[in-house]
Amino acid sequence: MKKLFGVIGDPIEHSMSPSMHNELFQVYGINANYHAFHVKKENLSDAVKGFKALGFAGFNVTVPHKEAIIPLLDELDPLAKAIGAVNTVVNENGNLKGFNTDGSGFVKGLLERISMLSEKKVLIIGAGGAARAIYFTMAKEGPGLLDICNRTVTKANLIVKDCPYQVTARALNIEEAEHQLEIYDLIIQTTPIGMAPDIERSPISIHKLKSGSFVSDIIYNPLETKLLREAGNKGAEIQNGLDMFVHQGALAFKKWNGIVPDIKRMKDKVLKQLGGLSC
Ligand code: ATR
Repeated sequence: MKKLFGVIGDPIEHSMSPSMHNELFQVYGINANYHAFHVKKENLSDAVKGFKALGFAGFNVTVPHKEAIIPLLDELDPLAKAIGAVNTVVNENGNLKGFNTDGSGFVKGLLERISMLSEKKVLIIGAGGAARAIYFTMAKEGPGLLDICNRTVTKANLIVKDCPYQVTARALNIEEAEHQLEIYDLIIQTTPIGMAPDIERSPISIHKLKSGSFVSDIIYNPLETKLLREAGNKGAEIQNGLDMFVHQGALAFKKWNGIVPDIKRMKDKVLKQLGGLSC
């Protein structure tokens, strides 16, 4: 029988997960289908029950349901529990188990571009769900410093406090981070600022950016945000959010199908859909 997968979110129509996963099913000869479902907040509980009743093998969860889904699941992976958000659900014989592959997806994509995180001084911009996933996973890698800045500093503070791994860290406001930007080897942008259609916005002034630093923005639409463009002009190495997107999907695919998929193929498929070039 055909295995069924999906992604739920609101909005969901621009999700690239269906074409990425359906391409992989074809490549690996898996009799399965992946579909995007528009689920509003008030219907989340019914949607989860529906997936279970219909025997879906698994599904992804995106904004705004990543946190709200937790009490609706039967089991939670410890990292997803610490992060407080789920983006991947596996149906294990009727038992829905939640995972978070966002942080690990980000780190996998990052480690394709830079070697070793120990010694590195890192700044994370933003303190939402994505920042929390990335912060905890980065902390596990043991960087020399893991600062986080946010418009609302209390939220950044909470992430530092809740982090289950020991790391030297500070919570800063945006101005404080801007003033000492030259100390960071790696800057990770996790807010929606700069995402289409508001592409002329940037979350931070990079006047003091160190040349030779590495700037990663989790946005992939556009492929080059204003922040990345400015950082590239200042001699930084840059990375957009495509690597994180593809790797979080690859980790979900492996959990569902037991196969480590071809990352390049996934990236090409998404790029084709985005109609542009990666940086
Ligand atoms: P997600 O869970 O998808 O990561 P989120 O929870 O909406 O997204 O978090 C978005 C992040 O972007 C937060 O850090 C948010 O800052 P606040 O915590 O102060 O709200 C930040 N953000 C969103 N819009 C912003 C804006 N206009 N200016 C500054 N920061 C913004």
